[in-house]
Amino acid sequence: MRIPDYVKHESLKTWVAEMADLLKPDDVYWCDGSQEEYDRLCEELVEAGTFIRLNEEKRPNSFLARSDPSDVARVEDRTYICSRLKKDAGPTNNWMEPSEMKEILNGLMDGAMKGRTMYIIPFSMGPLGSDIAEIGIEITDSPYVVVNMKIMTRMGKEVFDVLGEDGSFIPCVHTNGAPLEPGQQDVSWPCNPDVKYIVHFPEERSIYSYGSGYGGNALLGKKCLALRIASTMARDEGWLAEHMLIMGVEEPSGEKTYVAAAFPSACGKTNFAMIVPPKAFQEKGWKVTTVGDDIAWIKPAEDGKLYAINPEAGYFGVAPGTSYNSNPSAMESIKENCIFTNVALTDEGDVWWEDMDGPKPAHAIDWRGNDWTPESETPAAHPNARFTAPAGQNPVIDEAWEDPKGVPIKAFVFGGRRSNTIPLVFQAFNWAYGVYLAATMGSEMTAAAFGKMGVVRRDPFAMLPFAGYHMGDYFNHWLSFGRKIPNPPRIFGVNWFRRDEEGNFVWPGFGENMRILEWIVKRSKGGRANGIESPIGWMPSHKDINWDGLEGFTKEDFYKAMSIDKSDWDKELLETDELFIKLYDRIPKEMMAIKALMLSGMWRSPDHWEMKGDPT
Ligand code: OXD
Ligand code: MN
Repeated sequence: MRIPDYVKHESLKTWVAEMADLLKPDDVYWCDGSQEEYDRLCEELVEAGTFIRLNEEKRPNSFLARSDPSDVARVEDRTYICSRLKKDAGPTNNWMEPSEMKEILNGLMDGAMKGRTMYIIPFSMGPLGSDIAEIGIEITDSPYVVVNMKIMTRMGKEVFDVLGEDGSFIPCVHTNGAPLEPGQQDVSWPCNPDVKYIVHFPEERSIYSYGSGYGGNALLGKKCLALRIASTMARDEGWLAEHMLIMGVEEPSGEKTYVAAAFPSACGKTNFAMIVPPKAFQEKGWKVTTVGDDIAWIKPAEDGKLYAINPEAGYFGVAPGTSYNSNPSAMESIKENCIFTNVALTDEGDVWWEDMDGPKPAHAIDWRGNDWTPESETPAAHPNARFTAPAGQNPVIDEAWEDPKGVPIKAFVFGGRRSNTIPLVFQAFNWAYGVYLAATMGSEMTAAAFGKMGVVRRDPFAMLPFAGYHMGDYFNHWLSFGRKIPNPPRIFGVNWFRRDEEGNFVWPGFGENMRILEWIVKRSKGGRANGIESPIGWMPSHKDINWDGLEGFTKEDFYKAMSIDKSDWDKELLETDELFIKLYDRIPKEMMAIKALMLSGMWRSPDHWEMKGDPT
């Protein structure tokens, strides 16, 4: 194996050599992260049939990949947290004893790269050299992974300069688990349809992924490193690694407030991260900018404030539903230099998916490679089809998005998809109560998410599939973290998805969410103005929200979206028992106390449970 002379890290070299001995690739290739390398690999992927080059005029320098139909999403039931003790992984994670898992992995990985090239990808999660950033080295036999990692992370040989001779890095091993025998014809999407393992060793801080080439299963910097491993590091080192978008909200005065928000998958997180304020707001000079759309790493600084970076450099966004109507900035971001996976191909050689702007194409090739017309019974794009786009192409990217120091966070927002119970917006009375609200949040299942449609899945902090350790300890970490900062960010709950008796959405959502965001920003700057105290938190009354330019949304509609019903909340509190009982051995006692207070009605007397119009 020829090692580039700029690699000076002995234990890294030893590890790569050991992996090559185990995986037995035909070749070993050290990625340098250059544009020339990216272009060459894309061309090779076209030749191999994995990529289709899109129409150069309509979608310059962009490609379409179609995955194997068995390999279309993250596989939560095959994802493991292999801490030494089962109780450290907690009841919400799959667990196996580390040495037992290693034996399985060693067996599977032995010779798994036969007939293939082993790529070594040096990458940084976060701006290179930032105090908040971490370095990973991913070994993979998938050139598709290499080119996606080039967009999603800061990848390249500069990483070795930061690492030096003995810097720390997170080893990540990925194989599609599809070795080639001599003379065997390759397929366009190699994977192992029968066996998949996505494994994390939190104490060792290492990641092993076998059998899948798709998304978070294979692009190991994202969910595996930046959330599961990083959340464990964050607990040990006193910071936060969260499933949150980060946005900057600039007022007409020029003052900017940064907000971080957690939503479970399929709640329009990318849309909110790139929100277009209503005309009336734009005219006054309100601007919203994106720092990140999926993950936030947040560290306390000497000045007592919390600073956040987006560890990623690209967007791996869900394509279906993305349009100029729902998210113009995302549409601008994907005009060129992108990779599309499992979307439809039009006769003009461009991409298409359900709910894109304009009429449906009369004919397309669907994500499985079959003819499709509007009469077809199956969707043209897979519901979890994705675009991989460089974040720098977002027209509303925040000017500080690559600032190694990060941006100061003033507010945390938590929201799920709930047709009832949860009001449009409310503010937690204090940090501990905010942690309780985030810990008990839930979201109704959609086609793209796991489980039965419409059923509420508890998804604490939107981290259920991503916490690298026991959820009870995770709540504890948040509680103790808040105690250590002098003026912690305010915590808010939102619900854009409330429905009326007929099943219609009560709130228009999308850009109109800006009106709620404005209230959040005002409240996060402190003071008690512009809100009334309800049993579940501080809430705006109708006059506290800016309604400029919103036609046809009445005061009654607002109070419908804001209504809170005691019997719904009693039910909600009881439903959270399922989670609390599961986590009972590590659940912080504050959580139980807050719940008991709410249940016994001690927060407020019963008549506070009715928001009777404007109290003023
Ligand atoms: C994602 C997810 O893809 O949360 O970001 O599932
Ligand atoms: Mn996500």
